[in-house]
Amino acid sequence: MCGIVAYIGPRKAHEVIIKGLKRLEYRGYDSAGIALLNGSLNIYKKKGRVSDLENTLEDEKLASRVGIGHTRWATHGEPNDENAHPHYSFSKNLAIIHNGIIENYSSLKQELLNKGYSFKSETDSEVFIQFIEDIQVNNDCSLEEAVRLALTKVVGAYAIVIMSKDDPNMLIAARKGSPLVIGIGKDEFFLASDATPIIEYTNEVVYLNDYEIAIIDNNELRLKNTQDVASTPYIQTLDMELEAIEKGGYEHFMLKEIFEQPRSISDCMRGRLNANKGRLVLGGIREYANKLVNADRIIIVACGTSWHAGLVAEYFFEEFCRVPVEVEYASEFRYRNPIIKEGDVMIAISQSGETADTLAAIELAKSKGAIIFGVCNVVGSSIARVSHEGAYTHAGPEIGVASTKAFTAQLTVLSMIALRVAHKKGTITERRYHELLVEMENIPSKVEKALELDAQIKLVAERFKDAKNFLYLGRGYNFPVALEGALKLKEISYIHAEGYPAAEMKHGPIALIDEEMPVVFIATRDSSYDKVVSNIQEVKARKGKVIAVVTEGDALIPKMAEFVIEVPKTDEALMPMVSVIPLQLLSYYIAVMRDCNVDQPRNLAKSVTVE
Ligand code: F6R
Repeated sequence: MCGIVAYIGPRKAHEVIIKGLKRLEYRGYDSAGIALLNGSLNIYKKKGRVSDLENTLEDEKLASRVGIGHTRWATHGEPNDENAHPHYSFSKNLAIIHNGIIENYSSLKQELLNKGYSFKSETDSEVFIQFIEDIQVNNDCSLEEAVRLALTKVVGAYAIVIMSKDDPNMLIAARKGSPLVIGIGKDEFFLASDATPIIEYTNEVVYLNDYEIAIIDNNELRLKNTQDVASTPYIQTLDMELEAIEKGGYEHFMLKEIFEQPRSISDCMRGRLNANKGRLVLGGIREYANKLVNADRIIIVACGTSWHAGLVAEYFFEEFCRVPVEVEYASEFRYRNPIIKEGDVMIAISQSGETADTLAAIELAKSKGAIIFGVCNVVGSSIARVSHEGAYTHAGPEIGVASTKAFTAQLTVLSMIALRVAHKKGTITERRYHELLVEMENIPSKVEKALELDAQIKLVAERFKDAKNFLYLGRGYNFPVALEGALKLKEISYIHAEGYPAAEMKHGPIALIDEEMPVVFIATRDSSYDKVVSNIQEVKARKGKVIAVVTEGDALIPKMAEFVIEVPKTDEALMPMVSVIPLQLLSYYIAVMRDCNVDQPRNLAKSVTVE
């Protein structure tokens, strides 16, 4: 949550920062602000989007070669101009941008109030910068030392950047729990929550680690930790193209990302899967591969869409690897004293690799001796780094807040891991293993075909765009797809939607069905097909409006459904990668027709770095 960008170097800082903040708006977009050193230390901030802030800035007054900027997802205090970042210190000599939460901010604030400080905002971040200034004044020390001392006293998560009126050549940054990347250019430095604001200027980056402080002073980068121990920056080269983070002619990132899926799924399999040679290699899972093979159970933790991918994986692992799988909401797992023993295996799934609850669930399991495998999309992210081993999804940057291509890439990676384990364990026949490898290679072209349903799905969207509620039903591998379809619709179109296992409908949700209720069935030809057909009849009998996703050539369901969407045939275990496509498109078109902000739905943020 919240995006931060800072710049120091020969360019106009505000231009770099505003452009960068726009790229980070997926992390939060309820207010934005920027601090610049132009004559004095000036802060410009405003409720609303980065473009609202940009419209209020008068270019000629902004000449500054150093600056910090922020786009906010509110945690402490409502979204308004005062609570927007950056925040001044009491003397207005310092300014801070902060992503994260300071948990002991109220006691710190009370201490400062007792000393006569006052506050303009309700945020924990303003307390943070006043606290730093108080330490600097009391100890008569450098800003660098005051920041370090403050960090030993605050509890919580932070990625911060601080600038000072007295030192135009310096920025100080630090991280614990929230991401921060430093881009190194020629005589210039860029700091940001992720690499997207940086890559058009440089591909040399340093990922800051927890408890590290970066001091950029007179064109030099130094690192130390909060215990005052210096370290050498580890410079990595980014492998990311600028075009991957631009819309490329699509109206929204979400639509671009939906249409990218044939390619992102292929990218995910590239170099790993070769059906012809019967080869399946996952370079990131080597040393601990046997832990997966010999596990007595697998715990999967994730949130949201990634949790849905985990549910599909549960079916897959149990069917082919014959190992019990528990799929846990990370937020519940971490607080319920779960039973974890030395050597247990956990798979953590996360697009961003920064989700706070998933990270905390990992830390908990690790502290009890579990081996963690990360399935992340963002390279170098916190979850990727704290996992023992893992496999990246390689879907490329996902910018639309609603997750689409990350989901299908997660399914691809999880299926590859499961097949690898099943093959090693001998719980799958050679024939079935090869069949699935071949079919996985066919998935990108089947997804391509499913995307051709675009025009047809627009008609369905047109018909149901004003519905108040939706039900999504599926069984077996398609049950998590029903959950995912419902989540996509509610998060971007604000229509209430529920996903259910189709057979559960008669234990309650059937009471909701009347002639107004659209019911989306994911009813592809699989082992529960006949049972799903019976569920469709139950809905029809109560006058519900059936929209059915079926396997192409289905002759039966078209006679019952108001709308039928035919997807290409594939193996039942791989069907979620195909059957989810029309549901992504349906939610997209309904949201567009309802004039919703598809890429930045209200109240949401892409990367949930608070619990
Ligand atoms: C839904 C969505 C969220 C995320 C969830 C987990 O479209 O994007 O539900 O899936 O916040 O995020 P990651 O995968 O980054 O851990």
